[in-house]
Amino acid sequence: MALAFRSVGPGFAAEASGVDLRETLSDADILTIDRAMNEHAVLVFRGQSLSQDQQLAFTKRFGPLDIGLNMANKIGRLGRKEFADIANIDANGNVLPPDDPKLMGLLANQLWHSDSSFKDPPAKYSMLYAEHIPDKGGDTEYADMRQAYDALPADLHDLIEGRSAEHYAFHSRNALGAGDAGRNVDALPAVNWPLIRTLPDTGRKTLFIGVHTRAIDGMTVPEARMLLAELLEFATQRQFVYRHQWQLGDLVIWDNRCTLHRGMRYDIRVKRELRRSTTEDTGVPLAQPLPYSSTSNAA
Ligand code: OGA
Ligand code: MN
Repeated sequence: MALAFRSVGPGFAAEASGVDLRETLSDADILTIDRAMNEHAVLVFRGQSLSQDQQLAFTKRFGPLDIGLNMANKIGRLGRKEFADIANIDANGNVLPPDDPKLMGLLANQLWHSDSSFKDPPAKYSMLYAEHIPDKGGDTEYADMRQAYDALPADLHDLIEGRSAEHYAFHSRNALGAGDAGRNVDALPAVNWPLIRTLPDTGRKTLFIGVHTRAIDGMTVPEARMLLAELLEFATQRQFVYRHQWQLGDLVIWDNRCTLHRGMRYDIRVKRELRRSTTEDTGVPLAQPLPYSSTSNAA
């Protein structure tokens, strides 16, 4: 069966079929997926069954791996920094107590963000795989920043055109009162990115915002924060949002250059286990997929 894509969201997001991601895909299939990403920005692959190594091998076809926040973390439960451990459990599979610092990071994921926007290079594609999902809650929402940009009122557009925002990894965590205890904050100094970016593959323009932003060049901090809040509110209106309801074995890929995402509330005392691999945004379109390589020796 050939790869096919069926739209599932409002003007973006599609469900892929006809592919088993455990297999080593041809270069043509990888390019087809990459083109579909450039069109739909979010792709859902249902009914997959991926080992850690299979997931990383697939991810690496699209670019170098992004380590993201793990640059400031110690090696965790999964034993490798190439995965973001999106799970509220410990090494024995037991649900963490509510005051465990790791849960703070998972709660911060419930604020609209773009993965690794706080580092240089930022993230391109995130690939989140569902190993265990709660019966209720814990969906993930995605918002299309290309459509939000296209619909931006002229006054907002004029306020941000040519300006950059500062993104800081621990800004949202600080806002939650969680702080950065136990982390090497020096590994992730703040970075600046234009608020409006042009996607190299399609030439489309997109907004680059989210909860990691804390300042805008040429504005006072309060003025910048009010504007960032207004932009975020505008850009995450329902007409720009796809809500994903997880099933076991889903792999969802999203383009962090042009979407924001957030987790939805669930009972943190109930097990929810996902793992994310991520590629770096090198700024260069994928002309040629990277060759398959076994990932058993890490990145
Ligand atoms: C992530 C993330 C949200 C969720 O994996 O980067 O933000 O719903 N996840 O778990
Ligand atoms: Mn995220």
